[in-house]
Amino acid sequence: MSETSNVYQISLNRHTAFFVSSDLQRFIQGLEGRKLLFFPKNIEQTVSNLGLSGISLHPLSDGEDLKSISGIQNILDIMMKENPARSDYVLALGGGSITDAVAFSASVYKRGIRLVNIPTTFLGMVDAAIGGKTGINFLGRKNMLGTFYFPEIVIAYLPFVATLPEDNFRDGLVEMIKYGIIMDSGLLDDISENSAQLVSRVPEVLSRLISRSVENKMNVVKQDPLEESGLRSKLNFGHTIGHAIESASDYAISHGKAVSVGMVMEAMFAEEELGVDHKVHREIAAVLKRFSLPTKPEELNHSLDSERMKKAMVHDKKSSGVTILMPVVENIGSSAVKAVQMNILEEFVESQF
Ligand SMILES: NC(=O)c1ccc[n+]([C@@H]2O[C@H](COP(=O)([O-])OP(=O)(O)OC[C@H]3O[C@@H](n4cnc5c(N)ncnc54)[C@H](O)[C@@H]3O)[C@@H](O)[C@H]2O)c1
Repeated sequence: MSETSNVYQISLNRHTAFFVSSDLQRFIQGLEGRKLLFFPKNIEQTVSNLGLSGISLHPLSDGEDLKSISGIQNILDIMMKENPARSDYVLALGGGSITDAVAFSASVYKRGIRLVNIPTTFLGMVDAAIGGKTGINFLGRKNMLGTFYFPEIVIAYLPFVATLPEDNFRDGLVEMIKYGIIMDSGLLDDISENSAQLVSRVPEVLSRLISRSVENKMNVVKQDPLEESGLRSKLNFGHTIGHAIESASDYAISHGKAVSVGMVMEAMFAEEELGVDHKVHREIAAVLKRFSLPTKPEELNHSLDSERMKKAMVHDKKSSGVTILMPVVENIGSSAVKAVQMNILEEFVESQF
C-alpha cells in the first residue's frame, strides 16, 4: 500500500498535511507531546487492535447526537480534566460526526489546540475531515454552529474502509463522484474505468482516488478557505436539494443518497432554467447508476413533503432569502457558482417532489 503525502497551505500560515498511511500506530506514536484521542465507542476493538500506548483514549457515542451542545460539553469536560497544553495534540479518530464535534471542541479549547483528524469512514477521508469546517447541530438545524479550524495533519488509514457498512461506503463514493463532475473529468473516468475494483475496496485504487479527491477539494479550499468569495460553494453541488431531502426525511435518508438525487435534480434545474445542455444531467445520472446510486426521488423509497424541503432551502447557508448560490455544472468536469432566484428553485422542487 502506498504512502502519499501532500501539504496544503490554507490561510494565516496554517498548513494541513494529508497522508494515506499504512502504519497508523507509528504515525500517532511519533507525534510529539501529549495526545488525547477521541473515537467512536462502536469501533473500540479496532482502536484497541492498533496497540497504541501512552495515549489517553476517550470513547464517545458518535452520530448526530454527538454534534450537539451536550456532546461538546462532554468533550470539553474531558479536555478540562486532562488539561492538555495548546501545543499538545487532540486526535479526532472517527467518521464525520466525530471529526466535526471534536474539531469544534479543539477550536474553542484555550482558543485552539493542535488537531489531527483520522477519518475512519470513506466520507470522512474524501470530505468531512479535510476542509477545516467544524460544526454541530442547533435548534433542529444541521451544522448551524461551527468554526473554520484546520487540522495540522489528516491521516487516511485504509484498513478502516474495509469494515464500513455498504451504505456508508456509498455515501463517500457520492462525494468522490461529485469532485469528478464539478472539476475533474479525469477523476470521473478513473472512477468509472475502475468501478469494480473501487467497490471491492482495493487499497491501491482507494489510495489513488482518495488522494486525487483530496487534492481537488483542497485546491478549492485554498482559494476560499473561509467561504468568503463564493468559490468554495462549488463543493456544494447537489447539496442544496440534497440537504432539503435529508431534512424533509428527518435524516432517515442518508447524506450520500440525498446528494446523489440532489446532483441529478440540480443538473436538471440548470438545464431547464439556465440552458445547460441536457447531456450533462444524463451523464451524471449514468455514472451514479453504474454504482447503483439513486437518481430520482422515487428511488429514495420515502415520501417527501415539498413544503418542508422548501423551508430547509430558505435556511440554507448559501441563501439570502431572495437568491441562493448554486453550483452549476456547465460541462462534466467544469462548474461555476451562480446566484439563482429562490422562488424559481422552489417552483422546480414543487414540480419534482
Ligand atoms: N465538516 C465537513 O466539511 C463535513 C463534510 C461532509 C460531512 N460532514 C458531516 O459528517 C457527518 C457524517 O459522517 P459519516 O458518514 O462519516 O458518519 P458518522 O460519523 O455518523 O459515522 C457513521 C457510522 O459509522 C461508524 N463507523 C465509523 N468508522 C467506521 C469503520 N471504520 N467501520 C465501521 N463503522 C464505522 C460510526 O461509528 C457510525 O455509527 C455528518 O454529520 C455531516 O454533517 C462534515
